[in-house]
Amino acid sequence: MERTLSIIKPDGVSRGLIGEVIKRFEKEGIRIAAMKMIHMTKKEAEGFYAVHREKPFFDSLTDFMSSGPIVVMVLEGEDVIQRNRDLMGATNYKEAKPGTIRADFATDIEKNVVHGSDSPENAKIEIAYFFSELEIH
Ligand code: CMP
Repeated sequence: MERTLSIIKPDGVSRGLIGEVIKRFEKEGIRIAAMKMIHMTKKEAEGFYAVHREKPFFDSLTDFMSSGPIVVMVLEGEDVIQRNRDLMGATNYKEAKPGTIRADFATDIEKNVVHGSDSPENAKIEIAYFFSELEIH
C-alpha cells in the first residue's frame, strides 16, 4: 500500500469541483485516508512549494495557492502515486490526455485544479506538511 498527497487547489474549490475530483478517486478504488479544508497563508504556501523557490512562477503560484481554501487529502492504494498522476493528467493542461482532471477542467498552467505528489519521498514530506499520523485513518 502506498500513500500520496492530493490537493484540490483554490480554483477547483471555488468552481465547485470538490465532488467531481473525489468521485474520480473513489471510482478508481482509491481510498481517502484523510481529508480537510484549509486556507494557507502565503508563508505556508511558500513552505509547501519550497522546492520551486527559484522558479519564475514561484511568487504567482504561492499567491494563488493562498488565495482561497483548498482541500488536502491523503490517498491510499496500490501504486496510488502514479494512478493519481494518471487521473490528474499533465501539469500543462494543454498536454493532458483527454478525460483527465486537468484536461477536463484546468484553465491555465498554474490554475490546474489539483496537485499530487510525484514520488514516494515527496509524498512522505508533503503528507507530513499537512497531517499528523493521528489524522490518517
Ligand atoms: P503542481 O503540480 O502543484 O506543481 C507546481 C505548480 O506550479 C504546478 O502544479 C502549477 O500550478 C504551477 N506552475 C505555474 N507555472 C508553471 C510552469 N511553467 N511549469 C510547471 N508548473 C507551473
